Amino acid sequence: MIGFGLLGTGLVAPFHARALQASSRAKLAGASDVDAARLDKFTGDFGCPGYATLAAMLGNPAVQVVNILTPNHLHYEAVLACARAGRHVLVEKPPAMSLREVDAMAEACREAGVQIGVVLQCRVRKPIQAMRRAIEEGRFGRLLHADAYMKWFRTAEYYRLDAWRSLRRAGAGVTVQQAFHYIDLLQYLAGPVSRVDARMSNLAHPGVELEDTALAFVRYRSGAQGVVQASTALWPGTDIRIELNGENGTAIMVGERMETWKFRDERPEDAEVRSYGSAAVATGATGPADFAFQDHQALIDDMAEAVTAGREPMIPLSSARHTLEWALAMYQSAKDQAPVELPLRDEAAVW
Ligand SMILES: NC(=O)c1ccc[n+]([C@@H]2O[C@H](COP(=O)([O-])OP(=O)(O)OC[C@H]3O[C@@H](n4cnc5c(N)ncnc54)[C@H](O)[C@@H]3O)[C@@H](O)[C@H]2O)c1
Repeated sequence: MIGFGLLGTGLVAPFHARALQASSRAKLAGASDVDAARLDKFTGDFGCPGYATLAAMLGNPAVQVVNILTPNHLHYEAVLACARAGRHVLVEKPPAMSLREVDAMAEACREAGVQIGVVLQCRVRKPIQAMRRAIEEGRFGRLLHADAYMKWFRTAEYYRLDAWRSLRRAGAGVTVQQAFHYIDLLQYLAGPVSRVDARMSNLAHPGVELEDTALAFVRYRSGAQGVVQASTALWPGTDIRIELNGENGTAIMVGERMETWKFRDERPEDAEVRSYGSAAVATGATGPADFAFQDHQALIDDMAEAVTAGREPMIPLSSARHTLEWALAMYQSAKDQAPVELPLRDEAAVW
């Protein structure tokens, strides 16, 4: 059993804790938060030691992996501190706020000889894995379109829960905070983008100084094109859609279920693929805690195995770098009201 310590005991922490409780490879070895009341409640609920600081938690040798569950802009410093202490890291999305930070984190972990994985748990959904296999096997033929549609809803109270949730610089806009998962799925499936043309607006949260809606037209390096549509303004919130269209096939995931799976070369196993997922499983459309912990558990189990085997985790930091670059390019494009070519030349201009 590999011991995991949680840094941050806010909204997402119980999902990690439940995943650890359900795991046969990993266990909850401690938790830390600067907010003493939150920490007390959490350690009471989950029965683990609590620490007022990260340094104190790192003093516990049973903590072999630290899950970074602090607000987005605080991930960077925490990852560096964990690496310096020789601890493996599983960092929530987005891994950091700039490519420079991502590269420094990668370097620190490499130097310390520790693994770093990113919590982009939507990749483990069965429809996504089936789409990825079909792409690798060439079943789509030439990929023509790869799109993400996220028509979600968040209340005004959600943005007031914690100060960072209404800070653009903390990545709390819809582009980085919610749509990051689906931008990641597009780059995971359809490959990197070479051009992004984005517009952003605030449609339903007038008290909040960040975008609750983003639209982008993208060109993939492969030649395919696509759309990213993301919003937390669209009541009551409906399930996300990931759509792939190629010369020889179309696949559409809605929420976590396969809605459309059609190829010119129909195979016997396709009938089963069409049954993947369930409309009854919530995937975040209507509220921030409106999802299941099983996808997190897959990543935690994998991290425990990776540490034991001395291999990279399933979603290494390097595989999430382009997701951040794409999101940053959307901000740059919306700011300039003009298309942006990738690789990004001056990311410092984004925020
Ligand atoms: N993968 C997912 O589906 C998913 C879902 C929700 C949130 N997240 C991510 O998880 C992270 C946390 O989000 P959240 O909604 O739980 O936020 P939150 O504000 O509810 O919780 C963050 C906690 O970190 C604590 N904290 C702040 N600074 C700290 C420090 N220096 N040391 C220790 N604790 C500190 C805060 O007191 C708070 O309790 C974010 O990066 C977010 O994007 C991911």
